Amino acid sequence: MQFPPMKRKLKEILLKVKPIKNYVKGRSSFNDAQFLKVQKRNYSELSKKPSRTEVLNFLLSLKSDDTFYLEIGVRNPIYNFNYIKATKKYSVDPGLEYDQNPVDFKITSDEFFRKLRNGEILSSEIKFDVIFIDGLHLAEQVDRDIINSLNHVKDDGFIVLHDCNPPSEWHAREYHKYWFTPAQGLWNGTTWKAFFKWRCNPLVNSCCIEC
Ligand SMILES: C[S@@+](CC[C@H](N)C(=O)[O-])C[C@H]1O[C@@H](n2cnc3c(N)ncnc32)[C@H](O)[C@@H]1O
Repeated sequence: MQFPPMKRKLKEILLKVKPIKNYVKGRSSFNDAQFLKVQKRNYSELSKKPSRTEVLNFLLSLKSDDTFYLEIGVRNPIYNFNYIKATKKYSVDPGLEYDQNPVDFKITSDEFFRKLRNGEILSSEIKFDVIFIDGLHLAEQVDRDIINSLNHVKDDGFIVLHDCNPPSEWHAREYHKYWFTPAQGLWNGTTWKAFFKWRCNPLVNSCCIEC
């Protein structure tokens, strides 16, 4: 729209006032077509089935003996860990996102595997049927979690990674805490890169489930 010179001048002056400028810029960002498109994906992503819990329980149900489950990155266990059906379950989380942090090992995954290797916790021989990697979602960390998990998964066991298929580049950002993107609080991080690396390795069988 073309404003007459007086109005244009007034607009220029008003936009120099920070709260007004922030309001105008903020409103246009929230109405941006890309922002709205990705926001829609946020909702559809959260309603996809099966849930991670169903996938994990399905894999555990394939075993006829006692089952051993390890979860790396738990946050609040009411969303997944408490519903896992295994004979023995272990949880690891340094408690960065949930103050109560009711887990077995309140340490990072690197520390957990180091202690496990050195025989300081559990048994260095322990092997799990299913290991769920859902801790720090950065490629290098996930890659280390996979390598460490391969040493502690049964030959017929499964390693499950969460968040390998980001619905947009905003979900795949490196920095978790920057929430002013269309993905807002949702974060797949760069987990997909670690998955892709192992997907290319013919010695392991892998697949990505759209759920
Ligand atoms: C996405 S949440 C886990 C969600 C949970 N698995 C579920 O399905 O509901 C990620 C968790 O990983 C934890 N975390 C962050 N860095 C970690 C690390 N280096 N080792 C293990 N856990 C980590 C955080 O404290 C947070 O609680």
